[in-house]
Amino acid sequence: MKITIVGSGNVGSSCANIISQKNIAKEIILLDIKNGIAEGKGLDIQQASCLSLSDTKTLGVTNNYEMTANSNITIITSGLTRKPGMSRDDLIITNANIVKNVTKNIIQYSPNTIIIVVSNPLDIMTYCSFITSKFSSNCVMGMAGILDKARYCNLIANTLNCSHKDISSIIVGSHGDTMVPLPRYTTVSGIPINELLTEVQINNIIEQTKLGGGELVKLMGMSAWQAPAYSVAQMVESIIYDQKRIFPCSVLLQGEYGLEDICIGVPVKLGVKGVEEIIELKLNEHEYSLLYKSSISIRNIINNLNM
Ligand code: 2OP
Repeated sequence: MKITIVGSGNVGSSCANIISQKNIAKEIILLDIKNGIAEGKGLDIQQASCLSLSDTKTLGVTNNYEMTANSNITIITSGLTRKPGMSRDDLIITNANIVKNVTKNIIQYSPNTIIIVVSNPLDIMTYCSFITSKFSSNCVMGMAGILDKARYCNLIANTLNCSHKDISSIIVGSHGDTMVPLPRYTTVSGIPINELLTEVQINNIIEQTKLGGGELVKLMGMSAWQAPAYSVAQMVESIIYDQKRIFPCSVLLQGEYGLEDICIGVPVKLGVKGVEEIIELKLNEHEYSLLYKSSISIRNIINNLNM
């Protein structure tokens, strides 16, 4: 398996490191436009593999797309990241142009690659890559739901003082303020969350989850990378090993959930063919209205972008 990661910033280089540590790929190409950065970070990760005893070969390259040829999976992390006071949507036009160019370059050398988008605003950039690639929709997806779910689970575990390992949940909607954590689909070791927490506690957790990414931007002056990179690595692992795990990912909907021609977070099955199934939850009226509201926030931006 050959994996290309475009963008060697915090998220890109952490993805490379975690995927290398997991020893699940033969080769990782880390590509960046800034001279020498990807080479340096790639070399550091390659040297670390001598200590972690991973067989994955990591190589950093400067803007050399030829080296990415025949990648099975491509992870796009390039683009501006959020600074304090910025929303994910503030990055739109610049990042849309970057993601379009990256996608064009990637598919020229890897026409059969599966694309995982990480650049923000996530759902828009996933759609942008999908439209540019003209790939079948199972081959282009965005990473967000797994990350938002991790933040949601962490808050639940902290509130209950229990292990996060026992928490199972799902989040749908955009990777933004209108994301929709679903308490009705959240259990702790099989126990519905509403038997363990009050409505007020659950609502607090939902609100904090929505602000999870922004809280990190405020604290660090830049967006997060560890949890995002682990989230990407889980998707990559499920695809490489055909694990068919079910994760919330941003994917193109074509009628599912009554939504058309939009990328948004929903539960999907990830296997060797990429998105192998979109799972349609039987949302109640309230849950559906939140998902719909979230889709409108994405739709408005897509319409303005004129893609
Ligand atoms: C976040 O939510 C990077 O969008 C990412 O932290």
